Amino acid sequence: MNPAPNLVLVGPMGAGKTSIGRRLAERFGLDFVDADHFVEQRTGATIAAIFEHVGESGFRERESGALAELLAGEGRLVATGGGAVLDAGNRRLMRARSFVAYLSADLDSQLRRLGRDRTRPLLQRGDREQVLRDLAEFREPLYREVADLVMETDHLTASEAAVRLGMLLAERWSMSGAAA
Ligand code: S3P
Repeated sequence: MNPAPNLVLVGPMGAGKTSIGRRLAERFGLDFVDADHFVEQRTGATIAAIFEHVGESGFRERESGALAELLAGEGRLVATGGGAVLDAGNRRLMRARSFVAYLSADLDSQLRRLGRDRTRPLLQRGDREQVLRDLAEFREPLYREVADLVMETDHLTASEAAVRLGMLLAERWSMSGAAA
């Protein structure tokens, strides 16, 4: 059993962090927060507009601020954006304040789930398959580094994945405020 006061989902775009997280939070009685949505509310602008006006680095600053604020609390399930693991401080914070589940997805699943998505700035540049491949190559080790648990989501619906992750968490995670 690994005690931690919050639960964090990491993984690439299209892994299902938000849809799985929402269902899982209900099951565990946790307060669900999508970190991107939180940033949008705080900023009063969409992720696309933030990227456009202050660039990716401006977005990352806001993303780190959101994570710090959210993980200072307890009993939250935070679905992070795919790039939240890039920052070493974010990774330290996640490990200190949460149990981290890495939801993995292969390229085919990502492409299928992301469909014609126009909301993610990183996917609006060039060949989306190549972009996702490059991001995965760089980020996969970071997801693994921060994770307490890894679960593949390929071939699972969000409901099926939430049930499976719920079972894994019941064995490995105990919610506690003692792990700060
Ligand atoms: C990003 C993923 C997005 C969002 C932003 C950047 C990334 O979140 O934070 O577009 O760097 O992979 P999702 O993983 O929820 O799509």
